[in-house]
Amino acid sequence: MTRTIIKGGLVVTAAEEMHADVLVEDGTIAALAASDSSCARGWTAEHTIDATGKYVVPGGVDAHTHFELPFGGTSSSDTFETGTRAAAWGGTTTIVDFAVQTRGQALREGLDTWHAKAEGRCAIDYAFHMILSDVNEGSLKEMDHLVAEGCTSFKLFMAYPGVFYSDDGQILRAMQRAADNGGLIMMHAENGIAIDVLVEQALAAGKTDPRHHGEVRRALLEAEATHRAIQLARVAGSPLYVVHVSAQEAVAELARARHAGLPVFGETCPQYLFLSTDNLAEPGFEGAKYVCSTPLRPREHQAALWRGLRTDDLQVVSTDHCPFCFAGQKELGRGDFSKIPNGLPGVENRMDLLHQAVVDGHISRRRWIEIACAAPARMFGLAPRKGTIAPGSDADVVVYDPHARQTLSAATHHMNVDYSAYEGKEITGQVETVLCRGVTVIDRRRFTGRAGHGHYLPRSTCQYLT
Ligand code: URP
Ligand code: ZN
Ligand code: ZN
Repeated sequence: MTRTIIKGGLVVTAAEEMHADVLVEDGTIAALAASDSSCARGWTAEHTIDATGKYVVPGGVDAHTHFELPFGGTSSSDTFETGTRAAAWGGTTTIVDFAVQTRGQALREGLDTWHAKAEGRCAIDYAFHMILSDVNEGSLKEMDHLVAEGCTSFKLFMAYPGVFYSDDGQILRAMQRAADNGGLIMMHAENGIAIDVLVEQALAAGKTDPRHHGEVRRALLEAEATHRAIQLARVAGSPLYVVHVSAQEAVAELARARHAGLPVFGETCPQYLFLSTDNLAEPGFEGAKYVCSTPLRPREHQAALWRGLRTDDLQVVSTDHCPFCFAGQKELGRGDFSKIPNGLPGVENRMDLLHQAVVDGHISRRRWIEIACAAPARMFGLAPRKGTIAPGSDADVVVYDPHARQTLSAATHHMNVDYSAYEGKEITGQVETVLCRGVTVIDRRRFTGRAGHGHYLPRSTCQYLT
C-alpha cells in the first residue's frame, strides 16, 4: 500500500474549511484529521507533502473542453495529451470533453472516435459528453445505450445552421428521450437562424472586423434561445443545462425558471467574467483572439454573471476550452469575421482566475470550490469520487499557494496555442502541487505526470436531481 500525508494546510471544500492533515492510501482519500491531533500524529506514510500556509483543495473538474475538435475548417490546437497536461498545471484533474456525432453518423461512431483520440494520452482523468448533430430515430435510440454505459449528457445546438444545428422539433424529441432515460440535455442557446441573417447583412455592409462577431450575435438572441430551450424542456419534462451563458438577459431567463422551481441549470466561463467586447475591438485583427460563441459581451453584463454565481442561478464555471492559434487559424477570418474559428483557450487558467475572483471579493473561497469542482462533479455524475476531499473520494488534490504572484502569459503557459487570452493579467495565487488519484502529476511546479495516467470515467446521471 502506498501512503501519502498532506500536512498542515487549510483544507477547503465546498462544504467546509478546516486546518487538517489528509491521508491518502492507494489513490484514495483515507482520512482527514485536525492538524497535530493525536490521530494525525499517529499516521505513517512513504511521502509527506508540507502544505503549511497553503490551501488543500479538490482537483478541478472542467466539464467543458474541446480537444482536437474539427471546427471552422480547422482543428482545435490542443490534443488530449497537451490539453490534459496543461489542465494539470492549472490544478484541474478531471475534464469532460465533447465527442461529436457528425451528420449521417451514428453516435457510437462519434464516441469511438473520441475514445481513440484520448486513450493512453491523458495526464488526468477524463469523460465524454456527446454532441448530437443529427437527431433521428437511430440516434434517439442510441442515447439510451450511451446513458447506460456512462455517457450521460448530450449537447444540442440552436446555433450553427448546417453544422451542429437542431430545429425545435429535433430538440423536443431529444429532450423527451432524455426525460425517459435520465440523460441531461446541454444547450448552446443562440438563435442561429437569425444570427446568420445578421452575419450576411453585416458582411454585405462591409463590416468584416472581429468586433462585428459580437455585434451580430445579439444578447437578445441568446436570451430568446434560452427562453425557448427552457419552454421546450418544460414541455418534454426534462432537465436542462445551458452552456456558456454570457448575456445578462439569459441569466434572467434562467433565474426566472429556477425561481419557478424548474430543473434548469446554467454554466458560465472565465472569458465572460474577465473579458469583454473591448477585447473583440482590439485593433489590427487582435480581436480575433477573442472570437467565441456565445460571444464576449459589454463589461456591464459581468455583474449579472457574478451575481448569478453567488445566488446559484448559475451553478458551474467551465472553460469551453477550444483553442485556435492566432497564426494560421484565427487568421482564416481576416477580411471575414464569420470565418474566424470560434473558441478560446483557458483550461490552464480557470482555477487561478476563480481564485482571483475570491481575492477580488466576487465569491467566497468555498464558492470557488463549489463552482469549479463540486458542482460540475455532481452535475455530471462524478460525485463523490470527484470534486471533494472526503474519505473514499479519489485523491485528486491541489496544494494551492494563495499568496504566490504570477502573470498569465503565452510565454509561460502549457496550452498548445500561441497566445493567451489573459496576456499580462496578474493573479494572486498559484497551483503548487497536484495529485491525480494519489499520483503526483505536478510537484512544486514541475510536471511529473505522464500521458496515459488519466483514466476514462463512465458517469452516473445528473446528481442534482436526486
Ligand atoms: O466558441 C466556442 N464556444 N467554440 C466551441 C464550440 C461551442 O459552441 O462550445
Ligand atoms: Zn456551444
Ligand atoms: Zn463548447
